[in-house]
Amino acid sequence: MKLVVYCYLSMIVLGVQAWPTVKRSFELYPGAAMPHTEHRIADCMHVASEPGDYIFKKSAAAPPAAPLAVLNFNRDATLLELEAATSAQLEAAAAAATAAESVCGLYVIGEPDTIVEITMKHYDVNCESGGLMAFVDGWELNGEYFPSIKDHHRLLEDRVFEFCNNNKQWPRFSNKKFFRSSQNAALLQYRIPTRGSFVANVRFHKISQPCNVLVQDTAAVYQMSNFGHARNCTLSALFPAAVSLGSLRIGGKTVRAQEKVNYDCHQYEDRLDIGGSAGLDTTGMELASAVCGATTELGPEQAIFCGVTSVRLVSTGRYQNQAAVIVRKADEHDLDIATLLCAL
Ligand SMILES: *[C@@H]1O[C@H](CO)[C@@H](O)[C@H](O)[C@H]1NC(C)=O
Repeated sequence: MKLVVYCYLSMIVLGVQAWPTVKRSFELYPGAAMPHTEHRIADCMHVASEPGDYIFKKSAAAPPAAPLAVLNFNRDATLLELEAATSAQLEAAAAAATAAESVCGLYVIGEPDTIVEITMKHYDVNCESGGLMAFVDGWELNGEYFPSIKDHHRLLEDRVFEFCNNNKQWPRFSNKKFFRSSQNAALLQYRIPTRGSFVANVRFHKISQPCNVLVQDTAAVYQMSNFGHARNCTLSALFPAAVSLGSLRIGGKTVRAQEKVNYDCHQYEDRLDIGGSAGLDTTGMELASAVCGATTELGPEQAIFCGVTSVRLVSTGRYQNQAAVIVRKADEHDLDIATLLCAL
């Protein structure tokens, strides 16, 4: 399956407008059984952060793409910001992909300490007419993955599971499929050239030792820890961000004994890398600082002006490393605290 996300700007705009209604309906019925909430997928790139059934249907005589609706600039909800930030990346992809087969996606994102579960309650996507679906353990944009291929404990081929209906096969296999991601981000991709439909149920499960995290809010504090393991964990925000450290404990005794934070720890194996990249792949991210040491005091803010801002905790497993990372969306007023400007 060609992993290129293609999307109409107009559809993103429609998606953004749809959010406030969806969010408000939950507030009216606190404690209601959420997983049964139905959501219609109308846009090619649909960002989902609520549990429930996500329904897509394309009939043979599909209407042309929705016209560009009146722009709604009332973006107060955080997810709208996320979608807007992501849309900047998608516009570029859309331009490049007009000739390609259109691949759409349900981009699911949960709270930092959750994993995503997707159950295919129904799907009618014919292999023979070029239809294909894929579950991705993470997010994919323009062929780049979050978490990066290097930082994920599963091989890429085990993170992407493709499926479709083979109507020639008899007996037909059960339609039900069940997937779980390894972090708070997962993607259900689909390419339906003629007609087809699916119903995907989305649920979130809490986990106790989150590692890789995709940032959902435009202002929040994230706790990063290796829980004593030898592992590298990345926190990525799909927008330029101002990053500061609330508290820190990284590295061995001698590093921590200095009683101050060292922002130049490139030579140490255990460290917190702060930097950015143009796309989702953080493998070759540009570094602004590499931090180690210990403190309970709030550190200075630094702004990373890149499409994707990332904080990566590198751990050998010899120490208990942890950090409180404060992330907020950066704007032009933060240029004087910029430590990194990527080619956007
Ligand atoms: C973590 O990253 C470092 C450097 O980026 C690498 O040398 C090391 O092998 C990685 N560790 C794991 C467990 O992937």
